[in-house]
Amino acid sequence: MVNSLQNTFQWWQTGVIYQIYPRSYRDSTGNGVGDLQGVINKLEYLSNTLGVDALWLSPFFPSPMADFGYDVSNYVDVHPLFGDLDMFDRLVTEAHRRGLKVIIDIVPNHSSDQHPWFVESRSSRDNPKRDWYVWRDAKPDGSPPNNWLSVFGGPAWEWDEHTGQYYLHSFLKEQPDLDWRNPAVKEAMLDVFRFWLDRGVDGFRIDVAQRLMKDPLERDNPMNESGKMFSHKAMGEYDSQIHIYDVTHEDIHGVFQEIREILDAYSEKQPRYSVGEIHEYDFEKWALYYGKELDELHMPFNFSLLDAAWDASAIRNVVDDLEAAIPDGAWPNYVLGNHDEQRMVTRLGALQARVAAMLLLTLRGTPTLYYGDELGMPESVIPDELLQDPWGIAVPGLSRDGCRTPMQWNDQVHAGFSTAGSTWLPVQPDYAARNVAGQLGEPTSSLNLYRTLLAFRSESTALQTGRYVPLDKVPSSCYVYKRETDRERILVALNFSDESAEVTLPAPATLKVTTYLDKSDLSIDKVIQLRPHEGMILSL
Ligand code: GLC
Repeated sequence: MVNSLQNTFQWWQTGVIYQIYPRSYRDSTGNGVGDLQGVINKLEYLSNTLGVDALWLSPFFPSPMADFGYDVSNYVDVHPLFGDLDMFDRLVTEAHRRGLKVIIDIVPNHSSDQHPWFVESRSSRDNPKRDWYVWRDAKPDGSPPNNWLSVFGGPAWEWDEHTGQYYLHSFLKEQPDLDWRNPAVKEAMLDVFRFWLDRGVDGFRIDVAQRLMKDPLERDNPMNESGKMFSHKAMGEYDSQIHIYDVTHEDIHGVFQEIREILDAYSEKQPRYSVGEIHEYDFEKWALYYGKELDELHMPFNFSLLDAAWDASAIRNVVDDLEAAIPDGAWPNYVLGNHDEQRMVTRLGALQARVAAMLLLTLRGTPTLYYGDELGMPESVIPDELLQDPWGIAVPGLSRDGCRTPMQWNDQVHAGFSTAGSTWLPVQPDYAARNVAGQLGEPTSSLNLYRTLLAFRSESTALQTGRYVPLDKVPSSCYVYKRETDRERILVALNFSDESAEVTLPAPATLKVTTYLDKSDLSIDKVIQLRPHEGMILSL
């Protein structure tokens, strides 16, 4: 069995993953929407200019795009907007040629309502695919079978006039939930994993992983009296309930074990990987998704840095708590942004975002970066009439469009993203001043900070795999830790405040990287002065 207990580290442990939202990365056809050829054209940027190790592609499968690809109508093909299977194969080959791994997004909890499975399922009550989805009778008064809510607003049940039953949809009504308790559904979806493994993908990001198994009795969720939110962002009506029955039933562990068995079977020559979208803030519970025998997900995504207050002690607590809870042999990971979250620069401010980048790329665990964060792209303000995200259209204030705008490559039309008359979301107005080409020429730019951090990390075994040792005697505005192996000792000192701070070193050191990128290779005897919002990497 291949798992993380073995002594050698795998690519998904030592490497840095970079998320691409294909619609917004590079449009090679001039239709205003990014595509797979666009990604192929930028592999050189990813592997050489930036220096990441793996890319995760958000969905590129056939889809009516009700939720921009998270509503899949064919799990084993490529949407013509993005290319075709041959182009995908080329992407994998070209990525591998450059030493880049390819992770794809798999959406097993729900399909599109246009998927042939659902079209059949809704056609009649006795269709063989009827029980591939969750169809239930109304209550005697005609209301839905239970009180479950859709994440995107309103009830999670949609009435189907034609067959006189409700079906379950945890998200849009165009995204009916598959019934994972039906063995035929499970087998069909496991075949989807095999299909992409056979095409050479290195791993999967499993969408909404913790919803695959729900309460078999489908009980009402209790009401949320405490006001505690489901996640770090207020989700309106959805937060009125405690989500114990519509998410996270323990039977999920059996499913993850089966997925892992497949991945392990494919891992002999090419180590494969899985990361699940798991929103769980109690680390004891979160850690269960690695599996008791480390035989489930290679990693449950750890979103806790998105959730924490941004100050030195809160962030240290998150890391220390995770380090305490994570099972022996399981591998941590951290995230500061993705296609569902407000951009980190807007949350943290431009200078703290640089400190955050240093944090993410120096903690013990796999970092997942989000495209555009390397440029310091802020959250874009999209006028109401241009909103695309169905969540944002349904619930004011919850649009995710602001973090999905086109990648800014240069100061040409549409930031070099596309030659179309208009793009699917508008390019941010700051693109002329904030783009890859321009930042490459600015020695202290955000892009050059990421390049420097990634290059340093790729040469440092201590950062990739070393122990994590936090330091106690430091100013309260600072978070300082060592990363060390028996041969290399690194100290990371991060100032979370807008005042300077003094940190006493445990030993003489050499400054390697500062977030201001204005000095390096300085010997320091005892004390470092951190400027406001400065982070430093030192070699001890
Ligand atoms: C996940 C995705 C999100 C999508 C939702 C429904 O949370 O990250 O973008 O809208 O699933 O598939």
